[in-house]
Amino acid sequence: MRFTLASAVTVLVGAVAVLALPAPKYTGCSLSSVQIPDEAFVDPNNSTNTLPRPAANEKLAKIVLGYGSQNYSCVDGVATPNGAVATLYDLSCAFAVSPEWADVVTRGAVQMDPTAQLAGIQMLKNMFNAQFISGVHYFKGDFATPNFEFTDKGKFIGAVAGKIPALAGSDAGKRPDNFGAVPSLRLAPKQGMGSTYSTIYRLHTAGGSPPPGKCSWQGQRQIPYAAQYWVYRT
Ligand SMILES: *[C@@H]1O[C@H](CO)[C@@H](O)[C@H](O)[C@H]1NC(C)=O
Ligand SMILES: *[C@@H]1O[C@H](CO)[C@@H](O)[C@H](O)[C@H]1NC(C)=O
Ligand SMILES: *[C@@H]1O[C@H](CO)[C@@H](O)[C@H](O)[C@H]1NC(C)=O
Repeated sequence: MRFTLASAVTVLVGAVAVLALPAPKYTGCSLSSVQIPDEAFVDPNNSTNTLPRPAANEKLAKIVLGYGSQNYSCVDGVATPNGAVATLYDLSCAFAVSPEWADVVTRGAVQMDPTAQLAGIQMLKNMFNAQFISGVHYFKGDFATPNFEFTDKGKFIGAVAGKIPALAGSDAGKRPDNFGAVPSLRLAPKQGMGSTYSTIYRLHTAGGSPPPGKCSWQGQRQIPYAAQYWVYRT
């Protein structure tokens, strides 16, 4: 399936249409029965390599879809991470349909034309009077400090605290930049930076990896990606 703006909108609307009666809800669905599937914690090629699970006192607060780009510069022939930027969308009502549906939406997102993204979301907002955008993700200062700012004023400033390869069968990305899905991550907050949340997992990734082999491009290369961010608080 080729993802045009129209089909991406259909994907997103399909998720919510199922829930349409009697009281349609497009954002802010309950996450009380949702949890990270077991396989998402395990390296698909090495079952002893795992991401730590949430602590017993951590509760799932949000699941958002991040869609944007992973940026790379080419340093001495090696593709080197150079920040990332993504818009975060409320994905809770897709999970209210099913985790499989949430995965379809995540895969669909990475195939969208980046320039059509905001127009599509504006259209959905107008059609359903729902605020799908729930924040932004970018890097602060150095390229090792992922930052999340949510529209409800929640924030998270963290660092990588666990990494395994993407789930088996992940979406490789949007052609011609389909070089594979970025790893699954566990992020922990940096002390003293005022994070509202205690852990964020990046899971069900799609795209975002740099071209393999030796690089030679000038400046920055932006590779489209999408991922689910699972946000926990104590
Ligand atoms: C995992 O193994 C599969 C096949 O055995 C291979 O195609 C894939 O590249 C491996 N992934 C990683 C991250 O090593
Ligand atoms: C599998 O993961 C474990 C734990 O991270 C590591 O100690 C081990 O070397 C890995 N095995 C292989 C074959 O890479
Ligand atoms: C990464 O690329 C995006 C475009 O997708 C750009 O807006 C952003 O400024 C870049 N981020 C960094 C840290 O260079």
